[in-house]
Amino acid sequence: MRYNGPMKLDAVQQAAQEQFARQSHRYGSGHILENVEDVQVAIDKIPLPAKASVLDVATGGGHTGLYLASLGHAVTLADIAQPMLDRAARTAAERGFTVQTRQHAAEQFPYPDAHFDLVTCRVAAHHFSSPPHFIQETARVLKPGGYFLLIDGSVEDDQPEAEAWSHTVEKLRDPSHHRFLTPRAWSKLCAASGLAVQHVVLTPFKQPDLNWYFETAATSPENRTKVLELIAHAPESAKKLFHLGEEDGKIIWWWQRLTLIARKH
Ligand SMILES: C[S@@+](CC[C@H](N)C(=O)[O-])C[C@H]1O[C@@H](n2cnc3c(N)ncnc32)[C@H](O)[C@@H]1O
Repeated sequence: MRYNGPMKLDAVQQAAQEQFARQSHRYGSGHILENVEDVQVAIDKIPLPAKASVLDVATGGGHTGLYLASLGHAVTLADIAQPMLDRAARTAAERGFTVQTRQHAAEQFPYPDAHFDLVTCRVAAHHFSSPPHFIQETARVLKPGGYFLLIDGSVEDDQPEAEAWSHTVEKLRDPSHHRFLTPRAWSKLCAASGLAVQHVVLTPFKQPDLNWYFETAATSPENRTKVLELIAHAPESAKKLFHLGEEDGKIIWWWQRLTLIARKH
């Protein structure tokens, strides 16, 4: 999709914009995403020029983009929610980094073709209304030979029951959730846009407290009750896949965290 000025947001994008504008204070310091070990491990696999031009899509609190800025790269932080960008810009200034910020949706980018060495997107793509448009835009703005790093919640291939269950739970917890895609679905989208997948892996990632998750998304009391019921009656496939359990009175589970690295032809 070519950029023709700011796009009209669809209902999914609007829901995400409202949700994250309202909850932006929750995504900075103290959020579990502040720990960027997953990004470090992935970036170590990507050969980048000394001062790469990087776009961090749906930057949230800016943890991924600011880690890349700390490595000396020229980073643009982009998000649909302006309060997220304002907070990320403040954090960048506090840490002495110069970054660009740009408000736009992940489905249409305001950049020329072949502009970036690296596009990153971490723990956000499950909110996007159109993963195909997001991938097409990523491929368009990457330079030939440039890299794409995607990290997000996922569900392994061929687990329709567990996938449907986790979708229902996540949608109740945070109505701006759209869909977790499987490794195969992401790989197909990349291939269709000329991005050669070099690495795709699911890593279990512990979610230590359901209540913290409710607070982070400001889940309504009715939806909290429904989620607890779904957890109490989870199908075996979901219990097994997500290691649902209890520790110290807290409900815990393990996310299937997808890390995908692809290179533009
Ligand atoms: C959990 S936060 C991202 C975390 C961040 N990437 C990190 O590494 O810490 C999710 C972000 O996705 C953004 N978002 C959701 N849907 C979007 C869309 N369609 N386009 C752009 N940003 C979007 C939200 O505004 C929010 O800031």
